[in-house]
Formats: sequence, structure tokens, C-alpha cells
Amino acid sequence: MIFCFRYSTRFVIILKNIVIKIPLDRKGFIQGYNEKKIFNKYKHKAVLAELKWMFLGIVCQKRYTTINEIPKNEVYNIKKIIPEFDFDNCDFWNYENWGKEGEKYILLDYGNNPYVASLYK
Ligand SMILES: Nc1ncnc2c1ncn2[C@@H]1O[C@H](COP(=O)(O)OP(=O)(O)OP(=O)(O)O)[C@@H](O)[C@H]1O
Ligand SMILES: [Mg+2]
Repeated sequence: MIFCFRYSTRFVIILKNIVIKIPLDRKGFIQGYNEKKIFNKYKHKAVLAELKWMFLGIVCQKRYTTINEIPKNEVYNIKKIIPEFDFDNCDFWNYENWGKEGEKYILLDYGNNPYVASLYK
């Protein structure tokens, strides 16, 4: 039933309806906790991938369709709603961090913050 794996800072297991993101280092671990914090705070306001649970930095999200392009206004909109996202070096411009549900664009990777960004080499 496993569809595919993806590896970056986290080991991402993509199943039929959910994805599981397992941190591989300190950065991935912080991302998981940050995702939970941002999701709980903004789930009713912003288009964030549904977080089903987070346990010790491991995140389980609903699975969305991936896309090849993200319109700039989607990024501007989410930055307007979520002041925590207003920092340099954030990777919300990268379409790989977005997905789609119907006609709605959904942010899949929202665990980034200035501290996490500073850990990128
Ligand atoms: N909810 C989801 N539905 C479908 N695909 C997803 C989902 N979440 C992540 N993915 C896929 O897995 C990839 C990696 O996920 P994500 O960006 O959250 O991990 P990451 O460890 O933060 O990676 P990076 O540090 O490279 O941004 C995404 O680019 C996307 O293709
Ligand atoms: Mg990403």
C-alpha cells in the first residue's frame, strides 16, 4: 500500500490518503512541532494541509495532489494571513511545497521558520 518515498530533511512516506513525515535530523524535528503550532493557530484561516497528528516530531497529514506551479498571489495571500511566514529565505515560493484539492491550492510544508531556515547550509 506504500506509494512512494521522498527524502529531504524528512523521510516522507506517501500513502493512498495520508502522508507520514519522519524527521531525520534536528531540523526535521523542529519542523514537525512548528507545523502543529501553525496548524492549530491558523487552520480556520489559511489553506494548510490537514494535520491529523504529530507525535515526537513525526507528522501525519492528509494527502493532496501535487502541482507544477504555484501562482504568486497564493504565496502573497498566505503570508498576509500568517505573519510567522514573513521572513527571508522561506521556501513558500517553491511549488514543491504546495498541493491542490479541487481548485484550492494547499500549503503542504509549513514547518519552516527563521530558525529552521538558518539551519539550511
Ligand atoms: N500532504 C501531502 N500530500 C502529498 N504530497 C506531499 C504532502 N506533503 C509532502 N508531500 C510531498 O513530499 C515532499 C516533501 O515534503 P515536505 O516538503 O513537507 O518535506 P520537507 O522535509 O520539509 O522537505 P524540504 O525540506 O525539502 O522542503 C513535497 O515536496 C511533496 O512532493
Ligand atoms: Mg518541502
